Amino acid sequence: MSDRIHSLGGYIHEYQKSVQDPETFWASIADSFHWQKKWDKLVEWNFDEPKVEWFKNAKLNITENVLDRHLYTRGDQAAIIWEPNDPNEEHITLTYKELHAKVCQFANAMKAKGIKKGDRVIIYIPMVPEAAIAMLACARIGAVHSVVFAGFSASALADRINDCEAKMVLTSDGNFRGAKQIPVKAVVDEAVENTPSIETVITLKRTGQEVTMKEGRDIWWHDAIDGVSTENKAEAMDAEDMLFILYTSGSTGKPKGVVHTCGGYMVYTYYSFKNVFQYNQGDVYWCTADVGWITGHSYIVYGPLLAGATSIMFEGVPTFPDAGRFWQVCDKHQVNQFYTAPTAIRALQAFGTEPIEPYKLDSLKVLGSVGEPINEEAWHWYHDHVGKGRCPIVDTWWQTETGGILISPLAGVTPTKPAYATLPLPGIQPVILDNEGNELKGNSVEGNLCIKFPWPSMLRTTYGDHERCRQTYFSSFAGHYFTGDGVKRDEDGYYRILGRVDDVINVSGHRMGTAEVENAINEHPMVVESAVVGYPHDIKGQGIYAYVICDMEGRSEESLQNEIKQTVTKIIGPIAKPDKLQIVPGLPKTRSGKIMRRILRKIASGDASNLGDISTLLNPEVVEAIKEGAQ
Ligand code: PRX
Repeated sequence: MSDRIHSLGGYIHEYQKSVQDPETFWASIADSFHWQKKWDKLVEWNFDEPKVEWFKNAKLNITENVLDRHLYTRGDQAAIIWEPNDPNEEHITLTYKELHAKVCQFANAMKAKGIKKGDRVIIYIPMVPEAAIAMLACARIGAVHSVVFAGFSASALADRINDCEAKMVLTSDGNFRGAKQIPVKAVVDEAVENTPSIETVITLKRTGQEVTMKEGRDIWWHDAIDGVSTENKAEAMDAEDMLFILYTSGSTGKPKGVVHTCGGYMVYTYYSFKNVFQYNQGDVYWCTADVGWITGHSYIVYGPLLAGATSIMFEGVPTFPDAGRFWQVCDKHQVNQFYTAPTAIRALQAFGTEPIEPYKLDSLKVLGSVGEPINEEAWHWYHDHVGKGRCPIVDTWWQTETGGILISPLAGVTPTKPAYATLPLPGIQPVILDNEGNELKGNSVEGNLCIKFPWPSMLRTTYGDHERCRQTYFSSFAGHYFTGDGVKRDEDGYYRILGRVDDVINVSGHRMGTAEVENAINEHPMVVESAVVGYPHDIKGQGIYAYVICDMEGRSEESLQNEIKQTVTKIIGPIAKPDKLQIVPGLPKTRSGKIMRRILRKIASGDASNLGDISTLLNPEVVEAIKEGAQ
């Protein structure tokens, strides 16, 4: 393939080629990278173990492709433009040369603190350029980074540190977010009380708030790099060496560490970025995600920088100082491609069009959406008022596990359709299976979304527990990767994602396991049992509804409800706090003791009219009581 696909005919041609001869297709994309040694075999795989290897025996360092490769061609071009939370604070531009120097310097600083190839390093840093520098510095020396969203609580952070036995945490003193100043280092201090593997904590000064520094463990970022060389020879990595671990929620209690490897992730994030966003040299691209999620990894840092793009990183929130902030930043930096989440669009839609009016938004060419289904109303608002009817919307479907976008329009090249992710990228072979595993061929079908052929950036394992990876993704439908999503293929062959079919809910684009929230609720000493379900929420897409059986002991419902919500905030973080919490006398169960979530979901969605036959339940009488107390 040349640089990228330019026409619908080109898309069809490349798609066919990618299915008929995947090796030639992927090799032609991979050839454009700098490899220290080329591969012996392009791909070897089976989905039974599963074992997937791309670019076998190739050697590379992803940062040579992110940075060194661009030094001669675009060394003075902006790589990252960082826009602070406060619009009155100066933004920062890092050119490719400057970013290269900072990454090399920090890589040397980490090495001096004993970090070697293969060691795990936790990055718990909010949206400042050092978060990207830290990721790339790890990749430079072959350390495996695991970014933990800086909104997670100390106990959630400690769990992740312990799961991967990290040696180092990189953090900041605090975080500016809207009108708030949030402690960050203090959370790390609490977490590392219970993490024996941590030897060093490096702290960036951002807010200037007071922090405690522990002798022998803690060091300031500025001291760590003081006098350190800005040159560093990149470590030679095998294509299948681990690049990073990113923890994500599933239908069981404990978050799992999704593992991505160097070669395949590099090829796919570059390829998907270029094609989906139709990025042209010189364009300014902005993805509003947080680096703590996969979107931030693949489409703020790796994909754009591999493509030599200018990528904006934003510290703030959409509504500070007012609901026009996104549009102010778009005009200020003349943004060409803008990529955000439906939840942000819906939140801004609630303010009407007035906050948009002062801005021109005439630099915008492409709009993107990610993380959850976008409803038609939000799609049209985004298209009409932000894109002024001029900009194609790429509704990009993918997951932490897929590493990159799998189903999406290519901006301006393939058709769009409101609320549809539309068509698979060349190289991606989706299939729809019914619950028995039969493939539903043809159009106008609905079922479980699976992928039948590997792609370079798919997950390789779940850290420390390969069996869990097999069970979760490869056991439901033999020989297929199962996404956990329901999907419809319409009469034109376009895909529409219908949402999760497992016990995972999607709150403001954040993935949450219902079991994980239940486990946190159950930590409260007065809780006997709980059941968590999702319900439709106007802004968040889905809200968290918790049904809880409590030992009341004369306590008021309200104070208990608040305490239980606080417990969840403490154990996971504010993003997991239930929106609604109902104290119930019992939970509807089958005779074998299984909670009937279907009934709870219906009541939570405000539709208790037709619950089906409940007479076979162990305790049909609780259903009436739950209905009466529903919020
Ligand atoms: O249910 C799908 C939904 O988000 C899930 C993946 O979540 P996560 O791993 O956190 O990654 C989010 C960012 C890629 C999917 O299983 N999802 C993601 N994108 C879309 C989507 N649902 C509908 N439409 C999308 N464009």
